Amino acid sequence: MNNLDIHNIDKDKIIEKLSTMLKPNRLQHSINVANCAVKLSEIYSYDKDKAYLAGLVHDCAKYFTKDQVDFYVKKYNIKLDPLETNNIALSHSVIGSFVIQDVFNIQDMDIINAVRYHTTGRENMSTLEKIIFMADMIEEDRNFPGVDELRKLSFNGQLDKALITSLNNTIKFVIENNQLIHPRSVSARNYLMQENI
Ligand SMILES: [Fe+2]
Ligand SMILES: [Fe+2]
Repeated sequence: MNNLDIHNIDKDKIIEKLSTMLKPNRLQHSINVANCAVKLSEIYSYDKDKAYLAGLVHDCAKYFTKDQVDFYVKKYNIKLDPLETNNIALSHSVIGSFVIQDVFNIQDMDIINAVRYHTTGRENMSTLEKIIFMADMIEEDRNFPGVDELRKLSFNGQLDKALITSLNNTIKFVIENNQLIHPRSVSARNYLMQENI
């Protein structure tokens, strides 16, 4: 199978395949993230086709069963960290970054990394990683306290500020709910803050 030509994708075919992997509301979320990522690409001068495709497939492993996770972990020798193990809410991004290579034949490293780090962020994120991280948060159906502030920052040229605000919100939420913080989210936040002083 040839690598997917990311500038000439058959959207309907990819959406049809995704519809067998995702629940209808998650498929709609994925389409919304793809469309939002295109809007952000216009603002931040990024390749719209790559942003659309990354948005579309970012959650493809969200509903994987334990057997499906085990299959991919074994096939690609994926190293899940202790927080990701048995936690699909965190691991679907890492697993998904291999699934998109396997199922959709996407071999573009920017897209692979944007999918891989969309839940936690990481130190020194690429433009596409930032676009997908924020599009996932602010797509049109998202509705949570503070989402309008994130939209305002994201659509007004303040992508890093949007990320810092979003990571702060997440870290505060995790602390208030007595949950573990993924160290990559802390690294992402600290890196962005140091870059933006
Ligand atoms: Fe996700
Ligand atoms: Fe998502």
